[in-house]
Amino acid sequence: MMRVDMRNVCIAFAAAAGLALTAQELPEGAGKAETEKLCKQCHEMARSVSKRQDREGWIATMDKMKAFGMRSTDAEYAAVVAFLTKNYPADAVGKVNVNTATAIELESGLSLRRSQAAAVIAYRKENGPFKSIDDLKKIPVLEGAKLDDKKDRIAF
Ligand code: HEC
Repeated sequence: MMRVDMRNVCIAFAAAAGLALTAQELPEGAGKAETEKLCKQCHEMARSVSKRQDREGWIATMDKMKAFGMRSTDAEYAAVVAFLTKNYPADAVGKVNVNTATAIELESGLSLRRSQAAAVIAYRKENGPFKSIDDLKKIPVLEGAKLDDKKDRIAF
């Protein structure tokens, strides 16, 4: 005869629910296994993926973790950087699309002067959409606008 012990069922259920709350599920994909291997050795996974940043940012984080003593092969390192960059990218929110933004969006979003924002709009009217930072750099009045520092905030 089999009797289900409700008390044990409850404990098992509570334990599973608790686990679900603390364990950070990573998205499937290339590099997941390597990330699980490396990034929960010293702290919980949730901390590892607490950031949203571009590839440069993830490389900086990885190098910081290496300085803390993280060991990895070159292949693991590359796989983790790719995984984190793909799944935890810099927030797209807050980006300014230089091909569609209004003058005010260009001014406030990219800290441009009014004359610079106007030049961006005039340029794209005349030459068509910008494809890269290099296209933007063709606008003389944008000199000194520190476009390279703002590249994470610029979309095309
Ligand atoms: C050898 C131990 C170790 C390993 C392995 C490790 N970390 Fe860390 N990590 C630390 C320590 C120590 C801190 C806390 C120091 C701090 O907050 O400044 C930390 C903090 C962090 C933080 C928050 C602070 C910050 O610098 O942004 C992030 C994000 C992070 N780790 C990501 C990762 C990722 C991603 C991995 C896997 C590639 C990883 N860690 C693997 C030791 C490690």
